[in-house]
Amino acid sequence: MLYYYFIFIDRYSNMKKRLTFLGIETSCDETAASVVREKLDGTGEILSNIISSQVEEHKEFGGVVPEVAARAHVEKIDLIVKKAIKDSGCAINNLDGVAATAGPGLLVCLTVGLNIGKAIAGSLKKPFLAINHLEGHALSPKINKKINFPYLLLLISGGHTQFLKVNGVNKYKRLGTTIDDALGEAFDKTAKLLGIEFPGGPVIEKWAKKGNEDYFKLPKPIINRGGCNLSFAGLKTAVLRTSITLKSKKEKYHLAASFQKTINEILYKKTKVAMDEFLKNKKNKKNTFVIAGGVASNLSIRENLSKLSKEKNFEPIFPPINLCSDNAAMIAWAGIERYKINLINDLKFPSIARWPLDSSAPFLKGAGLKF
Ligand code: KG4
Ligand code: ZN
Repeated sequence: MLYYYFIFIDRYSNMKKRLTFLGIETSCDETAASVVREKLDGTGEILSNIISSQVEEHKEFGGVVPEVAARAHVEKIDLIVKKAIKDSGCAINNLDGVAATAGPGLLVCLTVGLNIGKAIAGSLKKPFLAINHLEGHALSPKINKKINFPYLLLLISGGHTQFLKVNGVNKYKRLGTTIDDALGEAFDKTAKLLGIEFPGGPVIEKWAKKGNEDYFKLPKPIINRGGCNLSFAGLKTAVLRTSITLKSKKEKYHLAASFQKTINEILYKKTKVAMDEFLKNKKNKKNTFVIAGGVASNLSIRENLSKLSKEKNFEPIFPPINLCSDNAAMIAWAGIERYKINLINDLKFPSIARWPLDSSAPFLKGAGLKF
């Protein structure tokens, strides 16, 4: 009860001031903390952004091992949070709220950041906000640029691949999703088949530059059906079959290039469908297309989707590269945006492994799906 009383007083005195939030992120293999302050123009200033990646810990396993990740979070989280607060130059008592990722992700990992966030908010008697990691990605470009709702979002990361209509904070309509692998997963699995260490997406991009993208012909599953839903499993199987026939390093470069070209063709076609869907019943002339998540760092994908955006009269917006992959600045920012519309959470808020942005959208994963 006392917690809510202090939050009420705090909210009242915060009405006119620029909000400063601490964000904490531990949903997967990055331990991250950041302090972000609202600017007068409605965008944000990142006062600190500390990320400790666990790439080395997981390399030998070829993917993220939940228990290994959780242990690494426990070992590092105190130092990372302390450093984020110290580097921001903001006294801990001057924070206006604490936001921590509550899902989706690995429960053993989420719990680490979530509990630290609750402890800090509770002890400072500041508002606590439980953030959906996907909303962090979805709102991340708004830190640097004023963007009006609604906008079309393509979220492409290691665990998710979705087209969403973003109608506002906490208001999402899913237009399409992958029915099997996420795009980042497809990059990482292809990389593994080519002998590249996890996470292989960035290396595939480098290798693709050295290869002939027309050398191998690869399938584009459900390219002409299923609306803007996507599928990458058949492509992965074709890459597997091709990879065992390779005889030289040059051929590996060709496969990386052909894979990336196929991905670009799939994204081009499916984004076109998503854009048409987005434009249905929309009267505004100015359309915005946001591309976020780790795979949005890929420059060839950026170029491909920028070209399509020009053709379809959309303004393409990519977060800066350092905000594409997992970070806590996007969590702090989502906290600020949610706080402004009064979406404050209880300290009892649990970690949630599966937490879609559009809870009304059907669960589409699995074989046997008919379009
Ligand atoms: O958003 P993110 O950091 O973490 C998740 O929430 O999943 O995305 C990580 C994914 C990995 O699969 C990684 O291989 C991929 O993004 N990725 C890339 C590139 N940079 C990161 N994929 C293709 N090209 C890149 N340049
Ligand atoms: Zn992510």
